Amino acid sequence: MKNFVFHNPTRILFGKGRIADLKKEIPANSRVLITYGGGSILRNGTLSEIREALSGFTVFEFPGIEPNPAYETLIQGVDLARREKIDFLLAAGGGSVIDGTKFISAAIPFAGAPWDILSKNAKVKSAVPLGSVLTLPATGSEMNNFAVVSRKSSADKLPFSSPLVYPRFSILDPEKTFTLPPKETRNGVIDAFAHVIEQYLTFPVDARVQDRFAEGLLLTLIEEGPKALKEPENYDVRANIMWTATMALNGLIAAGVPTDWATHMIGHEITAKYGLAHAETLAVVLPAMLRVRRAEKREKLLQYAERVWNLRDDPPETRIDQAIERTRQFFESLGAPTRLSGYGIGEDGIPVILSQLERHGMLALGEHASFGLDGARETLTLAL
Ligand code: NZQ
Ligand code: ZN
Repeated sequence: MKNFVFHNPTRILFGKGRIADLKKEIPANSRVLITYGGGSILRNGTLSEIREALSGFTVFEFPGIEPNPAYETLIQGVDLARREKIDFLLAAGGGSVIDGTKFISAAIPFAGAPWDILSKNAKVKSAVPLGSVLTLPATGSEMNNFAVVSRKSSADKLPFSSPLVYPRFSILDPEKTFTLPPKETRNGVIDAFAHVIEQYLTFPVDARVQDRFAEGLLLTLIEEGPKALKEPENYDVRANIMWTATMALNGLIAAGVPTDWATHMIGHEITAKYGLAHAETLAVVLPAMLRVRRAEKREKLLQYAERVWNLRDDPPETRIDQAIERTRQFFESLGAPTRLSGYGIGEDGIPVILSQLERHGMLALGEHASFGLDGARETLTLAL
C-alpha cells in the first residue's frame, strides 16, 4: 500500500426530511446564495423546503447552472455574490450545480482572472464556504474537493481541485431523487461505477480493504441500478445508490492505491466537443479502454472478473474478455449506448478528440503515466 493522508471534512446529513436541518448547519446571520440548475428543484418541491428552512437568513438565488456548468454562466454568479456580499453558498442540485458552485466559491475572492483557476491551475488561496443539497447521486461532488467547468466559447472542459472547496456539509435525502428521469438515474449509476473502476482497476498494491470496498460499491450498483429504473420511488434502492455514489469518489477508496482517470479525461474532451452527458462518454470509453490496456491491468482484471462478475472457470484471457463484455452490457442494459456511433460520432470525430487531448496536455495519463495519443486513438477506434 502506498503512503497516504486521508482527511474528508464534509459533514453528511443523510435521510428523509434532512433539509429542515439546514438552519443548524449555516452560520447565523449569513448572507446565503442558493445556486441551482434549470428548475427541477422548483418542480419537485426541494426549493420550497430550502426556502422554508432558511427563513430568518438573508437569502439570494442564482438559478440557471446548466449540465456541464459553463464558465460564462458561473461568472455571473460570481458578480452577483460579490455585489451582494454573499458569505455562504448553498448548491441545490446535481454535480453540475455543486461543481459550478465550487468554482463560484473559489472565484469570488480570487484576485486575478478566475479562468486561470482552470486553465493555469492557479492556486486557490481562499474560498467562500459552501454546502449542498444533493438531488442526483453520480459525481461524488457533494463530498469531494473537485469540480469540472466548461467554457463553451473555446470548447474547454477543465477540472480544478482545492481543499477549500470541500462542501462544509451535504444533505443527502434519497426522496429528493425520486423525480430523476431514467436517463439521469442511469447516468448516475454509470458515473459512480466508472469512478470506482478508475481507482480500483489498475495494478495490485495489496490494498485489501480498498479493493473490497470498491468491489462492494460495484456490486451494489450492479444490483440496485436496474431496480432504480424499475422502481423510481423505492426509498431503499435510492438510498443505497445515493450512498454508493458518494463513497465512490470521496477519497476513501483512492487512499493508498494507484489511480487511472484516463477514461474520464477522454470523456471530458468528448463532452466539450460533442455535448454528450458525462456518463455517456464513460459508457463509450471505459469498455474500449479496458480492452486496449488489458495487459497492464491483467491482474486486477482477473480479480474484477472473479469477485464482481463471478467468473472463475474459463481460461484467464476468456475471463477477462467476459468481464469487459459484462461491463459493457451492464451499461447497455441501463439504456446507455456504448459506441460512439450510438451518439452520432463517426471516424472523423477521432482526430478532433485527439487534438483536444493534445491541446490540454493530456499526453501521459493513467496509473503509469504512459497512456498517450496512440492509446487514445486505439481506444476511440475500438469504441466506434
Ligand atoms: O438543472 P436541473 O433542472 O436541476 O436538472 C438536472 C439536469 O438537467 C437534472 N436533475 C438533477 N436532479 C434532479 C434532476 N431532475 C429531476 N429530479 C431531480 N432530483 O439532471 C440533469 C443533469 O444534472 P447534472 O448536475 O448535470 O448531472 P451530474 O450530477 O451527473 O453532474 C455532471 C457534471 O459533474 C461533473 C461532470 O463532468 C459534469 O459536468 N463531474 C464532477 C465530478 C466531481 N466534482 O468530482 C466528477 C465526475 O467525474 C464528473 O466529471
Ligand atoms: Zn465521472
